[in-house]
Amino acid sequence: MSQDKLWGGRFTQPTDKFVEEFTASIEFDQRLYRYDIQGSKAHAEMLGRQQIIAASEAQQIIAGLDEILTDIEAGKIKFSVALEDIHMNVEARLIERIGAVGGKLHTGRSRNDQVAVDIRLYLRDEIDTILGYLSKLEASLVKQAEENLDVIMPGYTHLQTAQPVLYSHHMLAYREMIARDSSRLQDLRTRFNVMPLGAGALAGTTFPIDREWVAGQLGFEGVTRNSLDSVSDRDFAIEFCAFAGILMMHLSRLSEELILWSSADFSFIELSDAFCTGSSIMPQKKNPDVPELVRGKTGRVYGNLISLLTLMKSLPLAYNKDMQEDKEPLFDTIDTVKGSLKIFADMIAEMKVKADNMRIAAARGFSTATDVADYCVRKGLPFRQAHEVVGKTVRYCVETGKDIPDLTLDEFREFSDLIEDDIYDFVTLEASVNARKATGGTAREAVERELARLKQ
Ligand code: ARG
Repeated sequence: MSQDKLWGGRFTQPTDKFVEEFTASIEFDQRLYRYDIQGSKAHAEMLGRQQIIAASEAQQIIAGLDEILTDIEAGKIKFSVALEDIHMNVEARLIERIGAVGGKLHTGRSRNDQVAVDIRLYLRDEIDTILGYLSKLEASLVKQAEENLDVIMPGYTHLQTAQPVLYSHHMLAYREMIARDSSRLQDLRTRFNVMPLGAGALAGTTFPIDREWVAGQLGFEGVTRNSLDSVSDRDFAIEFCAFAGILMMHLSRLSEELILWSSADFSFIELSDAFCTGSSIMPQKKNPDVPELVRGKTGRVYGNLISLLTLMKSLPLAYNKDMQEDKEPLFDTIDTVKGSLKIFADMIAEMKVKADNMRIAAARGFSTATDVADYCVRKGLPFRQAHEVVGKTVRYCVETGKDIPDLTLDEFREFSDLIEDDIYDFVTLEASVNARKATGGTAREAVERELARLKQ
Protein backbone atom coordinates (compact mmCIF):
# COMPACT_ATOMS: atom_id res chain seq x y z
CA MET A 1 0.00 0.00 0.00
CA SER A 2 2.64 2.46 1.08
CA GLN A 3 4.49 1.76 -2.17
CA ASP A 4 1.56 3.25 -4.19
CA LYS A 5 2.31 6.65 -2.75
CA LEU A 6 4.62 8.99 -4.58
CA TRP A 7 6.28 9.55 -1.20
CA GLY A 8 6.00 5.91 -0.01
CA GLY A 9 9.76 5.25 0.23
CA ARG A 10 10.20 6.26 3.86
CA PHE A 11 7.13 4.42 5.09
CA THR A 12 6.69 0.81 6.17
CA GLN A 13 2.99 0.90 7.06
CA PRO A 14 0.07 1.93 4.92
CA THR A 15 -1.76 5.17 5.69
CA ASP A 16 -4.88 4.73 7.74
CA LYS A 17 -7.89 4.95 5.41
CA PHE A 18 -9.57 7.69 7.37
CA VAL A 19 -6.34 9.66 7.71
CA GLU A 20 -6.04 9.44 3.96
CA GLU A 21 -9.49 10.93 3.52
CA PHE A 22 -8.94 13.48 6.23
CA THR A 23 -5.70 14.79 4.77
CA ALA A 24 -6.71 14.70 1.12
CA SER A 25 -7.59 17.87 -0.76
CA ILE A 26 -8.46 16.32 -4.12
CA GLU A 27 -12.20 16.77 -3.53
CA PHE A 28 -11.74 20.52 -3.82
CA ASP A 29 -8.33 21.21 -5.35
CA GLN A 30 -9.22 19.28 -8.51
CA ARG A 31 -10.53 22.56 -9.84
CA LEU A 32 -6.86 23.57 -10.23
CA TYR A 33 -6.11 20.78 -12.73
CA ARG A 34 -5.68 23.02 -15.77
CA TYR A 35 -3.26 25.33 -13.96
CA ASP A 36 -1.39 22.42 -12.44
CA ILE A 37 -0.80 21.01 -15.90
CA GLN A 38 0.06 24.41 -17.37
CA GLY A 39 2.69 24.96 -14.66
CA SER A 40 4.08 21.43 -15.05
CA LYS A 41 4.41 21.79 -18.81
CA ALA A 42 6.42 24.99 -18.49
CA HIS A 43 8.56 23.43 -15.77
CA ALA A 44 9.23 20.30 -17.87
CA GLU A 45 10.16 22.33 -20.92
CA MET A 46 12.59 24.39 -18.84
CA LEU A 47 14.15 21.19 -17.43
CA GLY A 48 14.76 20.08 -21.03
CA ARG A 49 16.15 23.46 -22.15
CA GLN A 50 18.51 23.54 -19.19
CA GLN A 51 19.57 19.94 -19.94
CA ILE A 52 18.55 18.89 -16.46
CA ILE A 53 16.59 16.18 -18.23
CA ALA A 54 16.89 15.21 -21.89
CA ALA A 55 14.93 17.35 -24.34
CA SER A 56 13.22 14.19 -25.60
CA GLU A 57 12.17 13.32 -22.06
CA ALA A 58 10.72 16.78 -21.62
CA GLN A 59 8.75 16.30 -24.84
CA GLN A 60 7.40 12.96 -23.62
CA ILE A 61 6.32 14.53 -20.35
CA ILE A 62 4.62 17.45 -22.10
CA ALA A 63 2.79 15.14 -24.50
CA GLY A 64 1.70 12.97 -21.57
CA LEU A 65 0.42 16.02 -19.67
CA ASP A 66 -1.52 17.17 -22.73
CA GLU A 67 -3.25 13.80 -22.95
CA ILE A 68 -4.11 13.90 -19.28
CA LEU A 69 -5.62 17.36 -19.73
CA THR A 70 -7.75 16.14 -22.62
CA ASP A 71 -8.90 13.15 -20.60
CA ILE A 72 -9.77 15.20 -17.54
CA GLU A 73 -11.76 17.56 -19.72
CA ALA A 74 -13.57 14.64 -21.30
CA GLY A 75 -14.43 13.37 -17.81
CA LYS A 76 -12.38 10.24 -18.39
CA ILE A 77 -10.22 10.54 -15.29
CA LYS A 78 -11.41 9.58 -11.86
CA PHE A 79 -9.35 11.28 -9.19
CA SER A 80 -8.14 9.20 -6.29
CA VAL A 81 -8.28 10.19 -2.63
CA ALA A 82 -5.32 7.89 -1.97
CA LEU A 83 -3.29 10.23 -4.19
CA GLU A 84 -4.23 13.10 -1.88
CA ASP A 85 -4.24 16.15 -4.08
CA ILE A 86 -4.39 17.34 -7.68
CA HIS A 87 -0.60 17.53 -7.96
CA MET A 88 -0.04 13.88 -7.11
CA ASN A 89 -3.09 12.73 -9.03
CA VAL A 90 -1.73 14.29 -12.21
CA GLU A 91 1.81 13.09 -11.61
CA ALA A 92 0.74 9.52 -10.84
CA ARG A 93 -1.30 9.45 -14.05
CA LEU A 94 1.67 10.70 -15.96
CA ILE A 95 3.93 7.96 -14.65
CA GLU A 96 1.20 5.41 -15.33
CA ARG A 97 1.07 6.59 -18.93
CA ILE A 98 4.60 7.35 -19.98
CA GLY A 99 6.49 5.21 -17.48
CA ALA A 100 9.42 6.04 -15.23
CA VAL A 101 10.38 9.12 -17.24
CA GLY A 102 7.24 10.76 -15.85
CA GLY A 103 8.98 10.64 -12.49
CA LYS A 104 11.48 13.21 -13.80
CA LEU A 105 8.88 15.97 -13.89
CA HIS A 106 9.21 16.70 -10.21
CA THR A 107 12.98 17.40 -10.50
CA GLY A 108 13.88 20.71 -8.89
CA ARG A 109 10.34 21.23 -7.70
CA SER A 110 8.20 20.57 -4.64
CA ARG A 111 4.46 20.48 -4.14
CA ASN A 112 4.99 23.53 -1.99
CA ASP A 113 6.08 25.79 -4.82
CA GLN A 114 3.81 23.91 -7.22
CA VAL A 115 0.65 24.66 -5.25
CA ALA A 116 1.77 28.27 -4.86
CA VAL A 117 2.06 28.65 -8.62
CA ASP A 118 -1.20 26.80 -9.30
CA ILE A 119 -3.29 29.04 -7.06
CA ARG A 120 -1.76 32.15 -8.58
CA LEU A 121 -2.44 31.03 -12.14
CA TYR A 122 -5.98 30.07 -11.21
CA LEU A 123 -6.71 33.24 -9.27
CA ARG A 124 -5.24 35.41 -12.04
CA ASP A 125 -7.64 33.86 -14.54
CA GLU A 126 -10.61 34.27 -12.24
CA ILE A 127 -9.65 37.87 -11.55
CA ASP A 128 -9.70 38.60 -15.27
CA THR A 129 -13.22 37.18 -15.47
CA ILE A 130 -14.29 39.17 -12.42
CA LEU A 131 -12.85 42.38 -13.86
CA GLY A 132 -15.08 41.80 -16.88
CA TYR A 133 -18.14 41.33 -14.64
CA LEU A 134 -17.29 44.49 -12.72
CA SER A 135 -17.18 46.51 -15.95
CA LYS A 136 -20.52 45.06 -16.94
CA LEU A 137 -22.07 46.11 -13.66
CA GLU A 138 -20.57 49.58 -14.04
CA ALA A 139 -22.10 49.79 -17.50
CA SER A 140 -25.53 48.80 -16.13
CA LEU A 141 -25.34 51.51 -13.47
CA VAL A 142 -24.34 54.07 -16.09
CA LYS A 143 -27.20 52.91 -18.30
CA GLN A 144 -29.69 53.47 -15.46
CA ALA A 145 -28.21 56.92 -14.92
CA GLU A 146 -28.38 57.87 -18.59
CA GLU A 147 -31.91 56.66 -19.12
CA ASN A 148 -33.39 58.39 -16.09
CA LEU A 149 -31.84 61.83 -16.09
CA ASP A 150 -35.21 63.50 -15.41
CA VAL A 151 -35.93 61.53 -12.28
CA ILE A 152 -35.65 63.27 -8.92
CA MET A 153 -35.69 61.23 -5.74
CA PRO A 154 -35.27 62.05 -2.08
CA GLY A 155 -31.65 61.94 -0.91
CA TYR A 156 -31.38 60.63 2.64
CA THR A 157 -29.19 60.94 5.66
CA HIS A 158 -30.14 58.80 8.67
CA LEU A 159 -32.73 57.40 6.24
CA GLN A 160 -34.62 60.67 6.77
CA THR A 161 -35.39 62.87 3.78
CA ALA A 162 -32.47 65.26 3.42
CA GLN A 163 -32.20 66.96 0.01
CA PRO A 164 -33.55 66.04 -3.40
CA VAL A 165 -31.07 64.34 -5.72
CA LEU A 166 -31.12 62.95 -9.21
CA TYR A 167 -31.74 59.23 -9.32
CA SER A 168 -28.90 59.19 -11.86
CA HIS A 169 -26.61 60.71 -9.26
CA HIS A 170 -27.58 57.96 -6.81
CA MET A 171 -26.80 55.25 -9.39
CA LEU A 172 -23.48 56.87 -10.22
CA ALA A 173 -22.56 56.80 -6.53
CA TYR A 174 -22.60 53.01 -6.78
CA ARG A 175 -20.60 53.18 -9.98
CA GLU A 176 -17.88 54.99 -8.06
CA MET A 177 -17.76 52.19 -5.49
CA ILE A 178 -17.60 49.49 -8.14
CA ALA A 179 -14.89 51.40 -10.01
CA ARG A 180 -12.82 51.54 -6.82
CA ASP A 181 -13.36 47.81 -6.32
CA SER A 182 -12.11 47.23 -9.83
CA SER A 183 -9.02 49.30 -9.23
CA ARG A 184 -8.34 47.46 -5.97
CA LEU A 185 -8.56 44.18 -7.86
CA GLN A 186 -6.20 45.29 -10.61
CA ASP A 187 -3.82 46.54 -7.99
CA LEU A 188 -3.62 43.25 -6.11
CA ARG A 189 -3.35 41.32 -9.37
CA THR A 190 -0.20 43.27 -10.22
CA ARG A 191 1.27 42.62 -6.79
CA PHE A 192 0.89 38.84 -6.84
CA ASN A 193 1.65 38.24 -10.51
CA VAL A 194 5.17 36.94 -9.82
CA MET A 195 6.24 33.33 -10.03
CA PRO A 196 7.07 31.25 -6.93
CA LEU A 197 8.27 28.11 -8.80
CA GLY A 198 11.91 27.42 -8.05
CA ALA A 199 11.50 27.88 -4.32
CA GLY A 200 11.41 24.10 -4.04
CA ALA A 201 10.23 22.83 -0.69
CA LEU A 202 11.49 25.96 1.06
CA ALA A 203 15.16 26.70 0.39
CA GLY A 204 15.45 26.77 -3.39
CA THR A 205 16.82 24.01 -5.61
CA THR A 206 20.23 22.51 -6.34
CA PHE A 207 19.44 22.25 -10.08
CA PRO A 208 20.42 24.96 -12.58
CA ILE A 209 16.84 26.00 -13.31
CA ASP A 210 15.81 29.09 -15.26
CA ARG A 211 13.05 30.68 -13.25
CA GLU A 212 12.79 33.80 -15.40
CA TRP A 213 12.12 31.74 -18.51
CA VAL A 214 9.32 29.78 -16.80
CA ALA A 215 7.85 33.02 -15.46
CA GLY A 216 7.76 34.43 -19.00
CA GLN A 217 6.10 31.27 -20.32
CA LEU A 218 3.41 31.48 -17.66
CA GLY A 219 2.73 35.18 -18.12
CA PHE A 220 4.18 36.32 -14.80
CA GLU A 221 5.75 39.75 -14.51
CA GLY A 222 8.78 38.38 -12.70
CA VAL A 223 9.87 35.90 -10.06
CA THR A 224 9.48 35.92 -6.28
CA ARG A 225 12.65 36.97 -4.43
CA ASN A 226 12.74 34.71 -1.39
CA SER A 227 12.13 30.98 -1.41
CA LEU A 228 10.81 30.81 2.17
CA ASP A 229 8.34 33.57 1.47
CA SER A 230 7.39 32.07 -1.90
CA VAL A 231 6.05 28.87 -0.37
CA SER A 232 4.45 30.42 2.69
CA ASP A 233 2.84 33.54 1.28
CA ARG A 234 -0.93 33.56 1.02
CA ASP A 235 -1.25 37.35 1.27
CA PHE A 236 -2.61 37.43 -2.25
CA ALA A 237 -5.53 35.17 -1.34
CA ILE A 238 -6.22 37.30 1.72
CA GLU A 239 -6.05 40.50 -0.32
CA PHE A 240 -8.44 39.00 -2.81
CA CYS A 241 -10.88 38.09 -0.03
CA ALA A 242 -10.53 41.60 1.39
CA PHE A 243 -11.34 43.04 -2.02
CA ALA A 244 -14.31 40.66 -2.18
CA GLY A 245 -15.49 41.66 1.29
CA ILE A 246 -15.52 45.33 0.33
CA LEU A 247 -17.25 44.60 -2.95
CA MET A 248 -19.94 42.53 -1.22
CA MET A 249 -20.37 45.29 1.35
CA HIS A 250 -21.10 47.65 -1.54
CA LEU A 251 -23.46 45.18 -3.18
CA SER A 252 -25.23 44.62 0.13
CA ARG A 253 -25.86 48.35 0.48
CA LEU A 254 -27.27 48.51 -3.02
CA SER A 255 -29.28 45.35 -2.26
CA GLU A 256 -30.73 46.89 0.85
CA GLU A 257 -31.86 49.95 -1.11
CA LEU A 258 -33.37 47.86 -3.88
CA ILE A 259 -35.25 45.79 -1.30
CA LEU A 260 -36.59 48.91 0.41
CA TRP A 261 -37.41 50.59 -2.88
CA SER A 262 -39.34 47.53 -4.10
CA SER A 263 -41.59 47.57 -1.04
CA ALA A 264 -45.15 48.89 -1.29
CA ASP A 265 -44.18 51.63 1.18
CA PHE A 266 -41.43 53.11 -0.99
CA SER A 267 -42.49 51.79 -4.37
CA PHE A 268 -39.59 53.52 -6.16
CA ILE A 269 -38.59 50.72 -8.50
CA GLU A 270 -39.82 47.53 -10.04
CA LEU A 271 -37.40 44.68 -10.45
CA SER A 272 -37.98 42.49 -13.46
CA ASP A 273 -40.02 39.35 -12.74
CA ALA A 274 -37.02 37.29 -13.79
CA PHE A 275 -35.20 38.34 -10.62
CA CYS A 276 -38.03 37.87 -8.13
CA THR A 277 -40.10 35.00 -6.79
CA GLY A 278 -43.60 34.65 -5.41
CA SER A 279 -44.82 33.39 -2.08
CA SER A 280 -46.37 29.95 -1.72
CA ILE A 281 -49.07 31.37 0.57
CA MET A 282 -49.52 35.10 -0.15
CA PRO A 283 -50.63 35.52 -3.75
CA GLN A 284 -49.82 39.25 -3.89
CA LYS A 285 -46.13 38.81 -3.07
CA LYS A 286 -43.25 39.50 -5.41
CA ASN A 287 -40.11 39.05 -3.38
CA PRO A 288 -36.76 40.66 -4.22
CA ASP A 289 -34.89 37.38 -3.68
CA VAL A 290 -31.84 38.26 -5.70
CA PRO A 291 -30.83 41.37 -3.74
CA GLU A 292 -31.80 39.60 -0.51
CA LEU A 293 -29.52 36.68 -1.32
CA VAL A 294 -26.64 38.90 -2.35
CA ARG A 295 -27.07 40.80 0.92
CA GLY A 296 -27.05 37.45 2.73
CA LYS A 297 -24.05 36.06 0.87
CA THR A 298 -22.01 39.03 2.04
CA GLY A 299 -21.75 37.18 5.35
CA ARG A 300 -20.00 34.15 3.94
CA VAL A 301 -17.53 36.31 2.04
CA TYR A 302 -16.60 38.18 5.24
CA GLY A 303 -16.36 34.80 6.95
CA ASN A 304 -13.95 33.54 4.29
CA LEU A 305 -11.69 36.53 4.85
CA ILE A 306 -11.63 35.89 8.58
CA SER A 307 -11.01 32.16 7.96
CA LEU A 308 -7.96 32.92 5.86
CA LEU A 309 -6.55 35.50 8.23
CA THR A 310 -7.02 33.12 11.14
CA LEU A 311 -5.59 30.22 9.14
CA MET A 312 -2.37 32.12 8.45
CA LYS A 313 -2.07 33.72 11.87
CA SER A 314 1.08 32.61 13.75
CA LEU A 315 2.12 29.99 11.20
CA PRO A 316 5.87 29.53 11.39
CA LEU A 317 7.83 29.65 8.13
CA ALA A 318 7.68 28.01 5.71
CA TYR A 319 4.95 25.67 4.37
CA ASN A 320 2.56 24.08 6.86
CA LYS A 321 -0.19 21.63 6.02
CA ASP A 322 -2.63 24.08 7.57
CA MET A 323 -2.29 26.03 4.36
CA GLN A 324 -4.18 23.38 2.41
CA GLU A 325 -7.20 24.96 4.10
CA ASP A 326 -6.70 28.13 2.03
CA LYS A 327 -8.55 26.74 -0.94
CA GLU A 328 -12.16 26.34 0.08
CA PRO A 329 -12.59 29.88 1.44
CA LEU A 330 -10.87 31.27 -1.64
CA PHE A 331 -12.90 29.16 -4.07
CA ASP A 332 -16.15 29.95 -2.30
CA THR A 333 -15.34 33.65 -2.39
CA ILE A 334 -14.61 33.52 -6.11
CA ASP A 335 -17.84 31.63 -6.84
CA THR A 336 -19.94 33.92 -4.68
CA VAL A 337 -18.52 37.12 -6.10
CA LYS A 338 -18.85 35.93 -9.69
CA GLY A 339 -22.45 34.83 -9.18
CA SER A 340 -23.43 38.03 -7.40
CA LEU A 341 -21.84 40.33 -9.97
CA LYS A 342 -23.24 38.47 -12.92
CA ILE A 343 -26.80 38.53 -11.67
CA PHE A 344 -26.55 42.14 -10.49
CA ALA A 345 -25.33 43.44 -13.83
CA ASP A 346 -28.42 42.04 -15.56
CA MET A 347 -30.87 42.94 -12.82
CA ILE A 348 -29.74 46.58 -12.65
CA ALA A 349 -29.85 46.98 -16.41
CA GLU A 350 -33.50 45.87 -16.45
CA MET A 351 -34.72 47.73 -13.38
CA LYS A 352 -37.73 50.01 -13.93
CA VAL A 353 -37.98 53.32 -12.14
CA LYS A 354 -41.27 54.68 -10.77
CA ALA A 355 -40.40 58.33 -11.31
CA ASP A 356 -43.70 59.76 -10.02
CA ASN A 357 -43.42 58.03 -6.67
CA MET A 358 -39.84 59.14 -6.27
CA ARG A 359 -40.84 62.70 -7.04
CA ILE A 360 -43.72 62.69 -4.54
CA ALA A 361 -41.39 61.34 -1.89
CA ALA A 362 -38.73 63.90 -2.76
CA ALA A 363 -41.21 66.72 -2.22
CA ARG A 364 -42.11 65.42 1.24
CA GLY A 365 -40.04 65.98 4.34
CA PHE A 366 -39.09 69.62 3.65
CA SER A 367 -36.31 68.50 1.37
CA THR A 368 -35.69 72.06 0.12
CA ALA A 369 -35.21 73.58 3.58
CA THR A 370 -31.45 73.91 3.02
CA ASP A 371 -32.17 75.84 -0.16
CA VAL A 372 -34.16 78.43 1.83
CA ALA A 373 -31.27 78.73 4.27
CA ASP A 374 -28.75 79.14 1.42
CA TYR A 375 -31.08 81.78 -0.08
CA CYS A 376 -30.98 83.78 3.16
CA VAL A 377 -27.19 83.44 3.25
CA ARG A 378 -26.94 84.88 -0.24
CA LYS A 379 -29.06 87.82 1.02
CA GLY A 380 -26.42 88.44 3.68
CA LEU A 381 -27.52 86.39 6.70
CA PRO A 382 -24.79 84.33 8.44
CA PHE A 383 -25.47 80.63 7.88
CA ARG A 384 -26.10 79.83 11.55
CA GLN A 385 -28.85 82.45 11.71
CA ALA A 386 -30.27 81.28 8.42
CA HIS A 387 -30.40 77.75 9.84
CA GLU A 388 -32.40 79.08 12.79
CA VAL A 389 -34.83 80.99 10.52
CA VAL A 390 -35.54 77.94 8.42
CA GLY A 391 -35.79 75.69 11.47
CA LYS A 392 -38.61 77.88 12.70
CA THR A 393 -40.18 77.93 9.26
CA VAL A 394 -40.19 74.14 9.17
CA ARG A 395 -41.73 73.97 12.64
CA TYR A 396 -44.47 76.29 11.43
CA CYS A 397 -45.02 74.01 8.42
CA VAL A 398 -45.25 70.94 10.66
CA GLU A 399 -47.78 72.67 12.93
CA THR A 400 -49.94 73.95 10.07
CA GLY A 401 -49.58 70.89 7.84
CA LYS A 402 -48.03 72.93 5.02
CA ASP A 403 -45.03 72.34 2.82
CA ILE A 404 -42.27 74.90 2.17
CA PRO A 405 -43.19 75.75 -1.45
CA ASP A 406 -46.87 76.24 -0.36
CA LEU A 407 -46.10 79.07 2.05
CA THR A 408 -47.24 82.56 1.03
CA LEU A 409 -44.66 85.31 0.87
CA ASP A 410 -46.15 86.85 4.05
CA GLU A 411 -45.74 83.56 5.84
CA PHE A 412 -42.10 83.33 4.72
CA ARG A 413 -41.48 86.92 5.82
CA GLU A 414 -42.75 86.14 9.33
CA PHE A 415 -39.41 84.42 9.75
CA SER A 416 -37.11 86.75 7.81
CA ASP A 417 -37.77 89.97 5.92
CA LEU A 418 -34.82 89.13 3.67
CA ILE A 419 -37.13 86.74 1.85
CA GLU A 420 -38.67 88.13 -1.33
CA ASP A 421 -40.88 86.65 -3.99
CA ASP A 422 -37.94 85.20 -5.91
CA ILE A 423 -37.81 82.57 -3.13
CA TYR A 424 -40.20 80.47 -5.22
CA ASP A 425 -37.47 80.07 -7.83
CA PHE A 426 -35.35 78.28 -5.27
CA VAL A 427 -37.68 75.90 -3.51
CA THR A 428 -38.76 73.67 -6.37
CA LEU A 429 -37.19 70.24 -6.63
CA GLU A 430 -35.54 71.10 -9.95
CA ALA A 431 -34.11 74.34 -8.59
CA SER A 432 -32.76 72.60 -5.53
CA VAL A 433 -31.11 69.84 -7.55
CA ASN A 434 -29.79 72.05 -10.31
CA ALA A 435 -28.25 74.56 -7.93
CA ARG A 436 -25.64 71.97 -6.97
CA LYS A 437 -23.46 72.41 -10.02
CA ALA A 438 -19.93 71.99 -8.71
CA THR A 439 -18.07 68.84 -9.70
CA GLY A 440 -19.51 65.88 -7.85
CA GLY A 441 -22.85 67.61 -7.20
CA THR A 442 -26.29 66.38 -8.18
CA ALA A 443 -27.20 69.15 -10.67
CA ARG A 444 -28.26 67.75 -13.99
CA GLU A 445 -25.43 69.57 -15.74
CA ALA A 446 -22.90 68.18 -13.24
CA VAL A 447 -24.25 64.66 -13.69
CA GLU A 448 -24.23 65.05 -17.47
CA ARG A 449 -20.61 66.22 -17.33
CA GLU A 450 -19.81 63.14 -15.28
CA LEU A 451 -21.56 60.85 -17.75
CA ALA A 452 -19.65 62.47 -20.60
CA ARG A 453 -16.39 61.95 -18.74
CA LEU A 454 -17.23 58.28 -18.21
CA LYS A 455 -17.93 57.85 -21.92
CA GLN A 456 -14.36 58.82 -22.79
N1 ARG B 1 -2.32 19.78 -1.15
C1 ARG B 1 -1.30 20.58 -0.61
C2 ARG B 1 -1.86 21.98 -0.32
O1 ARG B 1 -2.82 22.30 -0.89
C3 ARG B 1 -0.16 20.73 -1.55
C4 ARG B 1 1.15 21.03 -0.91
C5 ARG B 1 1.54 19.88 -0.06
N2 ARG B 1 2.83 19.96 0.45
C6 ARG B 1 3.24 19.18 1.45
N3 ARG B 1 4.43 19.32 1.83
N4 ARG B 1 2.44 18.30 2.01
O2 ARG B 1 -1.35 22.73 0.48
